[in-house]
Amino acid sequence: MTEVLVTGGAGFIGSNFVRHALAAHPDWHVTTLDKLTYAGRSENLKDVLDDPRHTFIRGDVGDAALVGPLLARANVVVHFAAETHVDRSISGALQFVRTDVLGTAVLLEAARSAPGLHRFIQISTDEVYGSVATGASRETDELKPRNPYSASKAAADRLAYSYWATYDVPVVIARPSNNYGPYQYPEKVIPLFVTNAIDGLPLPLYGDGQNVRDWLHVEDHCRALDLLIGRGVPGEVYNIGGGNEVRNVDLTRRILELLDRPASLIKPVADRLGHDRRYCLDSSKLHAMGWRPQMPFDQGLASTVAWYRENEWWWRPIKDADPAFRAYYDAHYQNRG
Ligand code: NAD
Ligand code: TYD
Repeated sequence: MTEVLVTGGAGFIGSNFVRHALAAHPDWHVTTLDKLTYAGRSENLKDVLDDPRHTFIRGDVGDAALVGPLLARANVVVHFAAETHVDRSISGALQFVRTDVLGTAVLLEAARSAPGLHRFIQISTDEVYGSVATGASRETDELKPRNPYSASKAAADRLAYSYWATYDVPVVIARPSNNYGPYQYPEKVIPLFVTNAIDGLPLPLYGDGQNVRDWLHVEDHCRALDLLIGRGVPGEVYNIGGGNEVRNVDLTRRILELLDRPASLIKPVADRLGHDRRYCLDSSKLHAMGWRPQMPFDQGLASTVAWYRENEWWWRPIKDADPAFRAYYDAHYQNRG
């Protein structure tokens, strides 16, 4: 059995990855380590919680006493655990430094003395390159993060690299673009706008709506990570782009069309501070290894909208009944213009 430790496995991408890993690799045992912050939910893993090849552990990646023994028996680590929402990093940066930087440092320290470790996949992000006006970011480009989230991720990305260069920890760095799909916490733009549209609520579009993101379906992302576990070269960085550059205003219109809702639900609101205009990745390095995104964006968006429509049991308890979500939403969107 290959022992795979997935940190942040109760979050959006992590839970999709755990499902992918168990389905694709009958000889893997997966341990999920997750603190279950506001963004982590055991519901995300409900179909695999009883799987004998999966173990769930609630805990903090920054807890050295906990992660030491887990790393000691791991063959592969896929490190997703992080604070992930840019807007929350703007209103409270320190938790991002604690989890994304210090938490990663604790894991890497444990990885130094892990006897059977074959790969440590550090999940970074396209946001570490900063805003790119034209062209596409390559793995060798300078990192120019511009908000506390992306700066913390860039610190973790380089820290992971340093543990390869200095201690020979088998670190492979993945820099994926914006993911979308099922189980994404409804503070992020796609699930927020889809669920607001279902309820006939306004869709708060930041600034002029011309910002561009490159959308990657979470299943395409999981396949790329699987490839990197097998064939990623330690010390190397791999961009994982969806190849779907979409302006926010166009994304918003498509969501409304898919749900047969009027464009009048679009509500222009004050822009995000330091809002990165555009991200775009050159993924030719991964393409040369045989990976391509398989999900056309129109199809992926339609199936994602359908998933939120059909799975209100998943998001209503957050949006309608979780006081913490309501407090966040009110603080963030009330009086925004
Ligand atoms: P998410 O917010 O949905 O999930 C994060 C998970 O990490 C949650 O389950 C949370 O409980 C857990 N967690 C947080 N702090 C922890 C701690 N101290 N110890 C243990 N667990 C902790 O995030 P996501 O969208 O699934 O993102 C996963 C990773 O992918 C992150 O590293 C993120 O930076 C990166 N990423 C995300 C995107 C995207 O579009 N979502 C794009 C590029 C990169
Ligand atoms: P988000 O899903 O927060 O991802 P990221 O900031 O990591 O790319 O936001 C995606 C884009 O949508 C980004 O340009 C900001 C924009 N956005 C809005 O216009 N309104 C919103 O309410 C949110 C959450 C995001």
